[in-house]
Amino acid sequence: MSDKDTGQREGFSSKFGILCAAAGSAIGLGNIWRFPYVVGDNGGGAFLLVYLAFILVLGIPVMLSEFVIGRRGQRNTFGAFRRLAPGRPWWIIGIMGIAAAFMILAFYSTIAGWTLEYVYKAATNAFQGKSSDELGTMFQSFHTQTFRPLMWQLVFMIMTAGIIIAGVKRGIEKYAKILMPFLVLLLIVMAIRSITLPGAMGGLQFLFKPDFSELSPAVFLSALGQAFFSLSIGMGALITYGSYIGKENKLGNISVEVSIADTLIALLAGVAIFPAVFAFGLEPGEGPGLIFHVLPNIFQQIPGGYFFSVIFFILLAIAALTSSISILEVVVAFLVEELNIRRRHATIMAAAAATFVGVFCTLSFGVMEDTSLFGKTVFDLLDFTSSNVLLPLGGLFIVVFVGWFLGASNVRDELTNSGTLRFRLFSIFMFILKFIAPVAIAIVFMNSIGLIKLGGS
Ligand code: TRP
Repeated sequence: MSDKDTGQREGFSSKFGILCAAAGSAIGLGNIWRFPYVVGDNGGGAFLLVYLAFILVLGIPVMLSEFVIGRRGQRNTFGAFRRLAPGRPWWIIGIMGIAAAFMILAFYSTIAGWTLEYVYKAATNAFQGKSSDELGTMFQSFHTQTFRPLMWQLVFMIMTAGIIIAGVKRGIEKYAKILMPFLVLLLIVMAIRSITLPGAMGGLQFLFKPDFSELSPAVFLSALGQAFFSLSIGMGALITYGSYIGKENKLGNISVEVSIADTLIALLAGVAIFPAVFAFGLEPGEGPGLIFHVLPNIFQQIPGGYFFSVIFFILLAIAALTSSISILEVVVAFLVEELNIRRRHATIMAAAAATFVGVFCTLSFGVMEDTSLFGKTVFDLLDFTSSNVLLPLGGLFIVVFVGWFLGASNVRDELTNSGTLRFRLFSIFMFILKFIAPVAIAIVFMNSIGLIKLGGS
């Protein structure tokens, strides 16, 4: 990326590297922290069904569209739109994405900071012998503090910035490789332990037995927001990554594979969390602290729980890192390519600005708990605005851009590398982009703000 003037851009070096980077972006706190807490907040099984449907009919097509835009535009999210649609206002999508990136990075680093504290707590054996109530109190007294959560947030931001300064190949790819399989393995062990706890059935029922009376317009919107957040789509992170993918790679396969992996890991996290929530008599809807309360309970019940807990929180922090770098990269690629700022400076500026906003997110669990805007704390407001508003809106514009503006022949050309690769289901894909996806997103939106009234209460 530093060689922007020569026309030769740095890119990912192998198919496996691309998959790791894209999956590394998708798989993160969204799967293991946000998914369980949002499922819990939205009543369980019925939400899950809607979520899965959104991944399939909206998530995969939006992801593929982002890759198409990025690889065809060979630029950051703002620049790609300007190049593909010169003189047209589509670049506004890019600006929206950059705004969303700041917001997400701000609150993401709060939670990532919590996971670092939990690495420390696990390593110092702080969970040992504690009752479920005591573990709850422990989390409560940590995350409402001022200094410690801020310190960890800063540490996390510095790590994110450090990787981004190193650049695409040396940074992103290297850090995204090999560690994810370990995380999956640990999650499987935890899921098995969780479903064999006495009282676990209630959790499985909560997760998999839909109660359709729980569905409301707000639940649909949350499912949409969670699907987009978890897949890293709607703000141009995958446009940016798409621009680093070589022409010989099949974008369709990458999108499907990444979406499947992301969804399986979220489900695995759900199966690890909810049986334990019910077994320990906790509240599924307790909010953003859910996993920090539940997981230490599970570790206590596993032989060798000490080692498990240390390794698990380290892996979770790394999963968060491979995601946060994809968020920061959106802003940095923009600053470097459009404003000609040096990569290192761009990274420091963007990370510092996001940290500044992030401080308020972190403090909104403590001293700023009662400061609210539109009835939400800073954290809730940024989370809601970015995940449930900006990402779906971005996704809507992205599919309309690819479906209606870019034109079928350009899209086919990009997906097949000028006819040398096969792309099955092309007409279905275009049909979804043109009609299904925009209409579905628009309906969920208008329904949730009460512009139209469709089912639910
Ligand atoms: N998907 C990541 C996660 O689940 C978070 C993330 C990374 C993201 N890049 C993004 C979310 C871009 C939205 C947009 O943790």
